[in-house]
Parts: sequence; structure tokens; C-alpha cells
Amino acid sequence: MYQTWEELHTACLACRKCALCQTRLHVVVGVGVPDAEVMFIGEGPGENEDLQGEPFVGRAGVLLDKMLLAVDLDRKKNIYIANIVKCRPPHNRDPKPEEQELCIGWLRNQVKLLRPKIIVCLGRIAAMRIIKPDFRVTREHGLFFEKNGVLMMATLHPAAVLRNPSQKPDAFNDYLLLRDKIKEVCTHTYEQETLCR
Ligand code: URA
Repeated sequence: MYQTWEELHTACLACRKCALCQTRLHVVVGVGVPDAEVMFIGEGPGENEDLQGEPFVGRAGVLLDKMLLAVDLDRKKNIYIANIVKCRPPHNRDPKPEEQELCIGWLRNQVKLLRPKIIVCLGRIAAMRIIKPDFRVTREHGLFFEKNGVLMMATLHPAAVLRNPSQKPDAFNDYLLLRDKIKEVCTHTYEQETLCR
């Protein structure tokens, strides 16, 4: 367990625990503010993320940022975003269970440093890994589960919403539910907004 974000970043950038290190261009550790109360967890970097070293910067990321903005969330202001695996699986395949297993320690360390009040899983892979192995994202998205004192919910993966735009209203509703939950349990996520009024 690394005690600071700087130590964690330095160690994670040098990680060679699994074979994904051989094909990656960048390790995608995470992005956001260190005192965020809300953490988003995706599956793993895609091509654009691998090129830039930041999560959710491709088309799915643009949609994610739009939905976040609609509920006053912003990776530069009040949330943190990471992935289950930190290196791109070739051809954007799902990360293998053994790759997830070898990588999950980094995410656990991130959760320990951040101590989020709410974790939002982006898509099926993250929800099955973080919430429960038999999670059904089409049926259970938008529901809150409590685990070890942390509220967790999953929403549809923004890439899935891009492939199937009819899911947009359902996905957007999850963000509205999230906004309500943040107002209920978080202390400073929307603080700046209140101060500005
Ligand atoms: N999809 C993910 O799950 N994570 C990213 O960082 C980008 C796309």
C-alpha cells in the first residue's frame, strides 16, 4: 500500500505485473481530484486512453463528460476516474480475469487513498468486479448497493450507449439518481456550486 498519490503513480507507471505491459504505450492510472467523494470505475483503457495516458478520452469519454457535466460533475473539479485494469488490452478485448486479478491492487490502493463515499461502475465488467460477480447491468443499473460503508451503483458503459443510443435516457436517469444520492451523502462535491450562488 502506497501512502501518497505520488508514490502510487510512480510505482504504477513502472508496473510489469502482467503481459499487458508489453503492448501498452501508457499506463492509465487515473484522473481527478484527490479529495473526490465520488469515484468512477471503468473497465480498461482503449486506444485513445493508451495514447494519452488518461481514462475516458475517446468518444465514450466525450459522452461520459457530457453526462457528468449535466449533473455538475467534472474530472477537473469534483470526481476521480480510474479503471479496473491500467493498461490497454490488445484490440480492446475484455480484460482477462488474471489481468484483473494482477491489477486490482492498484485500484484498491486508489480507493484507500481516496476513501470515496460513492463508487460508480461504468459498465458490466466493472460492476461484476466491484459490486458482485453476478451483476446484471441491464437490470440493476441505477440501484445503490452498500459494501464496506461505501455506496456503489453501476450505470451503462458510455461505449455501450454509443452503440445503442436508445439506452441514453436510461443511462441519463442513472446520473440524475446519482446527483440525488450525492446531495444526500456527500459534503463537498457540490459545495463550490453552492458557494457561487
Ligand atoms: N472504456 C473504459 O472502460 N475505460 C476507459 O478509460 C476508456 C474506455
